[in-house]
Amino acid sequence: MAHRIAIIGGDGIGPEVTAEALKVIRAAGVDIETTDFDLGGSRYLKDGEILSDETLESLRGFDAILLGAVGTPEVPPGVIERGLLLKMRFALDLYVNQRPFEGTAPGHAEPHSFVVIRENTEGPYVGEGGVLRKGTLNEVATQGSVNTRLGVERVIRYAFELAQTRTRKHVTLVHKTNVLTFAGDLWQRTFDIVAADYPDTATAYNHVDAACIYFVQDPHRYDVVVTDNLFGDILTDLGGAVSGGIGLASSANLNPARTGPSMFEPVHGSAPDIVGTGKANPVAAILSAALMLDFLGESAAADRVRAACENPGTGTTTQIADNIAARLVG
Ligand code: IPM
Ligand code: MN
Repeated sequence: MAHRIAIIGGDGIGPEVTAEALKVIRAAGVDIETTDFDLGGSRYLKDGEILSDETLESLRGFDAILLGAVGTPEVPPGVIERGLLLKMRFALDLYVNQRPFEGTAPGHAEPHSFVVIRENTEGPYVGEGGVLRKGTLNEVATQGSVNTRLGVERVIRYAFELAQTRTRKHVTLVHKTNVLTFAGDLWQRTFDIVAADYPDTATAYNHVDAACIYFVQDPHRYDVVVTDNLFGDILTDLGGAVSGGIGLASSANLNPARTGPSMFEPVHGSAPDIVGTGKANPVAAILSAALMLDFLGESAAADRVRAACENPGTGTTTQIADNIAARLVG
């Protein structure tokens, strides 16, 4: 049976790279049936829709969502991010943001391979807080971080389960327990409790600032990294930078309980400055589609797509994807 995929190309280079990713999935011989959803900054400017409850309900009926990138310079920051991307992550309970990094960091001889598991439904992203006396010299702004035992435990458990499928079986918790003592303590205690269920799995802890140094200077120490929403956001841009660039960085927003569709998107943004120039690298979108194939039970096809993405050559967005697709059919 065909996998039913909701497509949100979005803004900027999003539609370009998504079209190339679909071309590659089809070249891999995977049977998909797609439905386009016109969402993102451009749609918002057209008729005000960001993500209505009706649209959200219809998204729930799909097997997966493939997203390009959202955001336009004409829409103020936060509107599309909160109203579309974060709304999907929260409402569909996509509590794992999985971002694999494989590459050779600058100054290193050997390639590294690690995965960051970023908590995706809590932390500072929840939007706790508010503002008082806005625009005055007495303005007060607070922005809290929500950390629940359930939310922290389920993402840590996912990280340990993922480690069981990897050769090294090693999980590093990244936080800032020396300063964020309330949230950090919950994360550390929960990590220790879960780790006790996996006696064969080695563990480590790094403060997030130190992890930034190690990502650059010693990325080989990592296998599976688990961290909170905001640390994970920042750390995964760095992960991309030391693994061949953000043009290769893929991500999966997962609902491991499968109570609804999971969402797959490149880590990069909509890059409005290069729209239509053919300069966008389609590989991040293609590798995100490969993560989608894994989640849909098409791991053999996903492995073939990943293999075809090795040294994809140079050229325009379309030329690179055509080259990858040709390796799959040929
Ligand atoms: C990401 C992005 C998003 C995030 C933005 C666009 C809201 O940076 O997926 O990493 O902060 O999570
Ligand atoms: Mn980010």
